[in-house]
Order: sequence, then structure tokens, then C-alpha cells
Amino acid sequence: MQALSIRELLAGHRALPGDSPRLDAELLLAHALGKPRVYLRAWPEYQLTDTQLVRFRQLLQRRMRGEPIAYVLGIREFWSLDLKLNAFTLIPRAETETLVETALAHFDETAIRALDLGTGSGAIALALASERPAWRVEAVDIVPQCIFAASANADRLGLTNVHGIVGDWCHSLAGNYRLIVSNPPYIDPGDRHLEQGDLRFEPRAALVAAEHGMGAIKQIVPQAAARLEPGGWLMMEHGYDQRRACGDLFSRAGFIDVKCLPDLAGNDRVTIGRRPAEPS
Ligand SMILES: C[S@@+](CC[C@H](N)C(=O)[O-])C[C@H]1O[C@@H](n2cnc3c(N)ncnc32)[C@H](O)[C@@H]1O
Repeated sequence: MQALSIRELLAGHRALPGDSPRLDAELLLAHALGKPRVYLRAWPEYQLTDTQLVRFRQLLQRRMRGEPIAYVLGIREFWSLDLKLNAFTLIPRAETETLVETALAHFDETAIRALDLGTGSGAIALALASERPAWRVEAVDIVPQCIFAASANADRLGLTNVHGIVGDWCHSLAGNYRLIVSNPPYIDPGDRHLEQGDLRFEPRAALVAAEHGMGAIKQIVPQAAARLEPGGWLMMEHGYDQRRACGDLFSRAGFIDVKCLPDLAGNDRVTIGRRPAEPS
């Protein structure tokens, strides 16, 4: 095999798809070498071994076919936590940090029982658990491989206050929670974006819900209302155009102080509501 240096291999980065081909090429090469990215700058003349070259080319081919860099590397950063992903987990999104910020703004360090419905890689549950070590955070997903990923991420990050549960929304849960958060599937099955970009490679069950994307939210809101302590909060991520439908569901389920918060791009993203406190 022809010997090639880091500099020579990175020179071909323009062939990669997406908005950040140079960065992606560096991430893939660093991954193939098992080194941090800074190594590439320090040793541009280093010539790869045959094994390293084969590994790099395999990663490159997956990316050239359009597979998201997060799946090719098997890792994505969320809330400054490096989360390992598998083929069953959604790639955590920056806009979901709005949900984490909102939850943290409403609750201090005091120990509470919190629940993350549809946890995927564990992104939201792990972010909350890392910021609030005294909380007990339960993380539910219907896909066992997601709970496997979330639990492995919790172990690797040393977050012993997260507990994974395989289940269908609230059906297998007991007791009540002070806080329930969820980023459920909310895309309309007919949405043409499903055939474009990263979405093509993500699990449909994590993305899509019937009834124009509202099916999962319609199930979760009343179930969560029954699982919250009086005064407890439900916080739900949803599509930019689902604000009204979501707010109506919250109000019909008896939630008060219902409001919608925007994400960093200014899109309606998270609806929150409180279960009324019991009359004293
Ligand atoms: C949009 S993904 C969110 C993943 C993760 N919370 C995040 O923000 O990156 C929705 C998740 O809900 C899970 N899910 C779908 N239907 C479910 C159900 N009936 N009960 C529990 N989880 C479900 C999917 O497997 C998926 O992991």
C-alpha cells in the first residue's frame, strides 16, 4: 500500500459531504489513529500504517455515503458530555439543551425524583443528573438498545443517580415525580425532510409520530399528569409549529402556568406546565 501522510490525506477533505468537510476529515483521521485531533497538527508528516489507512478509508466511505459523523464516530457531545451512540439512538440535538436549561432553571440542588421519557442515548437524563447529583433521574425508553446505551453512558460518566427502565411511556412506572421531561418523536410521517441529510440514517421510531407528529405527545401528556406530584412540572420538547396543539393538550390535562419557550434559533420548542398544588 502506498505510504501517505496526515497532510496528504487531509488534502482530500473536499470530497466529503456536508458543511464541515475539513473538520469531519480531521475527526475521522484522529479516530482511525486513536489520537486527539491536536495530534494531526503536531505530526502532519506522520505516515499511516497499512492498518490505520484501511481503518481511515472505511470510516471515510461511510461518511461519503452520507452517514452522519456522529454515527460513524459512535459519539456526540451534548451538554459537554461525550455520549456514545448506537444505531438505535437518536443523535442528540443542540435545541434539546433548551429543555435541560429550562428544567435546571426551575429546580435547585434539592433532591427530587425526576423522569425522562424517551431517553435515547440518555442525553437529557444524563445532563440533568450531572448538574444535580442529589436528584434521582429515571430514564425510560421502549427500545432496549437505547436503555443499554443510556446505562453504559451513565456508567462511563460515573453518574450513579440515573436509572434506566425499558417501558412504554409511563405504563411500567410506580410512584410520582416532581419533574417529568420528554423529547418524544414529533415529526409528521409525511415530512419530506425524513428523506434528506442525517435524518435518513436515524431510527424512524425515534423521529416519527402519527397524527401529524402529535401522536406520542397526546399519549404522554395525560399519562404524565397522573404521574406528577401536586405542584410538579411537565416539560416537553416539540416541533416549531406544534406550540398551540401542545399547549391545548397541557390545558386539557389540567396543567396550569402553561407556556412555550423558544430554542436558541428562536423557534417555539419547549412547552411547560405545572400540576396544581392540592388545596390546603
Ligand atoms: C426524539 S428521540 C429522543 C431521544 C433523546 N431523549 C434525545 O433527546 O436525544 C425519542 C425517543 O423516544 C423513544 N420512544 C418512542 N416511543 C416510545 C414509547 N412508546 N415509550 C417510550 N419511549 C419511546 C424512542 O425510542 C426514542 O429514543
